[in-house]
Amino acid sequence: MRMITAAACAAMLSICAVQAQSADPLAPTGSWTAYAGGRAATPPMGWNSWNAFASAVDEEKVMASAQRIVDSGLERKGYRYINLDDGWAARRRLPDGSLIVRADKFPSTAARDRETPSFKPYTDRLHAMGLKAGIYSDMGRNTCAQAWSATDEDLPKGSVAEREVGLYDHIEQDIALYFREWGFDYIKVDGCGLRDFGPNSPKVKAGQARALAPIMDLGAISRTDVASVQNLFRRVGAAIARSRPDGDFVYSLCIWGAADVRAWAKDVGNVSRTSDDISPAWGRLLVNYDSAVHRALYAHPGSWNDPDMLYIGAGDFDADHLTEARSHFALWAMLNAPLLIGADLRKTPDALMDVFGNADIIALDQDSAGNQATVAYDSSDLQILVKTLSDGEKAVAIFNRGSGAYDVDLQATQLKYKDDAPVEMTDLWTKKQISFTKEMKLRVASRETMIFRARGTRALADGFYLSEQPGRVNPAADGVTRPIADPTIFRTAAGWGGTRGAGDRPQYAGWGGARADSAPYGQTLQVARQTYPSGIGILANSRLEVRNDGYRRFAAKVGVDDSATDKIHAVTFTVYGDGRRLAETGPLKWGMPAQPIGVDVAHIKLVELVARSAATNNEALPVTWGEAALTGR
Ligand code: GLA
Repeated sequence: MRMITAAACAAMLSICAVQAQSADPLAPTGSWTAYAGGRAATPPMGWNSWNAFASAVDEEKVMASAQRIVDSGLERKGYRYINLDDGWAARRRLPDGSLIVRADKFPSTAARDRETPSFKPYTDRLHAMGLKAGIYSDMGRNTCAQAWSATDEDLPKGSVAEREVGLYDHIEQDIALYFREWGFDYIKVDGCGLRDFGPNSPKVKAGQARALAPIMDLGAISRTDVASVQNLFRRVGAAIARSRPDGDFVYSLCIWGAADVRAWAKDVGNVSRTSDDISPAWGRLLVNYDSAVHRALYAHPGSWNDPDMLYIGAGDFDADHLTEARSHFALWAMLNAPLLIGADLRKTPDALMDVFGNADIIALDQDSAGNQATVAYDSSDLQILVKTLSDGEKAVAIFNRGSGAYDVDLQATQLKYKDDAPVEMTDLWTKKQISFTKEMKLRVASRETMIFRARGTRALADGFYLSEQPGRVNPAADGVTRPIADPTIFRTAAGWGGTRGAGDRPQYAGWGGARADSAPYGQTLQVARQTYPSGIGILANSRLEVRNDGYRRFAAKVGVDDSATDKIHAVTFTVYGDGRRLAETGPLKWGMPAQPIGVDVAHIKLVELVARSAATNNEALPVTWGEAALTGR
């Protein structure tokens, strides 16, 4: 549970409501509590203007890319959202507060009324092409380009108040304009307005923007008012739901892993950025990928981790770097990331269009089970990711992060397949079939990602470990009381400030969160020296929600993980079914053997797994749901 100060609570009634709801975050709810609004049963796919054009975007550039999506057949493969990023706004008109579009850049908006340009003809045109339309705003008064752009050229003009084109103080008005009047279907809500306009901001000092005391600091979670940030984003979500009552919208949060959003976005919106902006550099890809790869349990149908848009088509991912471009695409599909093309499609060579169009890899991203890949093998240079698909097959990616070729021993057990039965695999780039029993040697080139679809004999004949199915698990309370930065996320040498200062520091809060097949801080799951290759690792005082649709049995072996440093406090493990207590262990302490816990869940829709302790320092008390599995289907 994230604590909210009494002062903040008194200041904002809706925050108090959040606090009241979470009075006992471990009490079973009997229902799935993660975000269920919008249309994101699978991750959104489409195109976004930012990587290609930044704020120098215009109607011709957008429409030409949209047309290429249709003409190339990518639309039929699922690329549907055409998202306009920062750079479209001319100013906020006063006193009525209407947002005015840059009609010189988007001529169709002025066709009906030059005084009040409207995006309706523009969205009508995209809709007529079989596409959907996305728009951009910021949660603060000003956008990111207004904070960071080197020139004024493409920024809103006018008085300080007229330049305030962000949502702050205008949530209802702007959201109604975007969704009701203009007909947009998707919004990306950025966050620079909440962090970059303090009194010392150059734009504020230059008299171009009004100061807004920052409530978010990407580099210091302790200087971030998580509750207030979350409250603002919830208010926008509620306004969207009101403006688009048919629910046909996507709500994308863009606060780059700040404000502990990697833990709570799943309760607030459809997609959420887990890191700072991607750039067309290999090191940056690693940062963004790392910010999402261990967060599989925080993504599921309806809410996805977003390591940022595809940068295929530029720099390290251009047509001269097909290995890197293919890796980028394969990894994003394994992560169930939104597949948003960031290239100028007027100029994109066919070789890269073929990367975007690989239907077998798109199918992994769009698989209806919504299981983000989990990490089956992890080292600094080589990772093996495995993802369970809705038909029970597996996707396997072997990712060589490093600069030399790597010899890999892929094992059937890494796929949670039996190692005495054959595994058939299809290479999703070459379409070549291969088969092996027990293990297979593969050589992976530098920066290559081999990606396969695999069929074998499951270790659990009639079910799956929960860690194979993160898409049906929601860490409703993950036990983290003091969010701190995850030190394992790759820190690139290609930082925004060159090599000035001391280099990048850990900045993405969420260290100690729930993990598949790993203890919360990365150790092997282990209780009283017994290791568990399969299971969920989470802190004490946590509650997991698990969707069931026809499995008859839930079972696990539970205990305090050997990685705990609290050897004093006991933990009690309880399993609930649709809100009713089904089974409970006695109090278990560090060093005590794991206890089996098993229940009949034949007619249960929601299983809840609660680990409760009198301890208050949950961070010292990781627990293990070893071999946790749903079986009997
Ligand atoms: C931020 C976002 C980017 C883009 C720009 C626009 O940096 O993270 O994706 O939207 O703002 O200014």
